[in-house]
Amino acid sequence: MNLYDVYPLFDIHPEKAKGCFVFDETGKEYLDFYGGHAVISIGHSHPHYVERIVSQLGKIGFYSNSIINPLQQQLAQKLEDVSGHSNYDLFLVNSGAEAIENALKLASFYNERRHILALTNSFHGRTSAAINISHSGAKHQAPINQGIEVTYCQMDKVEALQRELASEKYAAIIIEAIQGIGGLDEISDDALRAIRKSCDDSDTFLIMDEIQCGYGRSGKFFGFDRSGIRPDLVTLAKGMGNGFPIGGVLIDPQKMPAVTGRLGTTFGGNHLACAAGLAVLEVMDHENLIANAHQKGNELSHFLGSLEGVKQVKGRGLMLGVEFDFPVSNLRNKLVFEHNLFTGSSANPNLLRILPPLTVHEKEVDLFMEKFTSGLKIYLSSLHISAS
Ligand SMILES: Cc1ncc(COP(=O)(O)O)c(C=O)c1O
Repeated sequence: MNLYDVYPLFDIHPEKAKGCFVFDETGKEYLDFYGGHAVISIGHSHPHYVERIVSQLGKIGFYSNSIINPLQQQLAQKLEDVSGHSNYDLFLVNSGAEAIENALKLASFYNERRHILALTNSFHGRTSAAINISHSGAKHQAPINQGIEVTYCQMDKVEALQRELASEKYAAIIIEAIQGIGGLDEISDDALRAIRKSCDDSDTFLIMDEIQCGYGRSGKFFGFDRSGIRPDLVTLAKGMGNGFPIGGVLIDPQKMPAVTGRLGTTFGGNHLACAAGLAVLEVMDHENLIANAHQKGNELSHFLGSLEGVKQVKGRGLMLGVEFDFPVSNLRNKLVFEHNLFTGSSANPNLLRILPPLTVHEKEVDLFMEKFTSGLKIYLSSLHISAS
């Protein structure tokens, strides 16, 4: 049987990974400043993570959601403690797209509307409703995905967003505080506060998609934290499990009280997933990773902004985008194959995404700077030679 050939692949076969490094079958070391699409939060194979998952597997790995699993409550409590966000209920799922589907469904259940307001360049996943409302994913929508009425607005057109919300036709507005795949554009704190007020005035739910920018990556627990808003729904995944498939939705239970049977999943919140999720939060807490993301992010941002050829650095914390005035795919390939450095692409062809683990140490930041500086210098001089 062949694999369904949908992924553009790098010819690299990782066999082992540790911290910020990935090793191929020959032992060659790659510096991972991408974390497999922003997933690796506490570093590859963190000893506490490995220990917690292995010891959980020796007890019980899975039972369905028809029994009581105390690990789910422990995870919810730890998430409240580490994030500082209380008075939410947690619904556990397996992936980002599933978190989005459930958040949209809840909004629509509670105000009985079916339109969604989303932002240009947004990305929210590949399943039915998630891809339907993703502006970046438009070309991957099949006819069956096109059932939801969705309107897109630019994030800096606050009055237009407010006007749309005032129509009282939207079930929800969905926002990434810092856009991931779309290219690291950030909504302003003032815009978020204005949108929060318009949502209150129009009985529209505010969904913050924190699947990529959440879980400490921005240098705060959530990307929206700086604005002081309280969303009605928050979607989580990626860094939440450090590679173990787990996602979640934070739900304001005052506005959307739970109804038995309304949501469900076979695998979501299983024992092993909860052990992974708890290990991530324990390490984040114990090793002060949010502060590390803030500090190393500032350092990297200043460094990247000072390089010749860099047009702009976007994002914050350890969620950075480096924009050039040329397409970056060749540069990215050279960084991987000639400098053994993983970085990421985005919907903006001129922008590289930099998403190292939140555990990144000074010596790995230094190594990144060395690799990136020499990779970029060689690449720029090859461009000058081919242009002359
Ligand atoms: C902001 C955002 N939302 C949702 C998703 C979908 O997550 P998943 O791939 O786990 O379904 C992604 C994935 O890249 C994302 O970046």
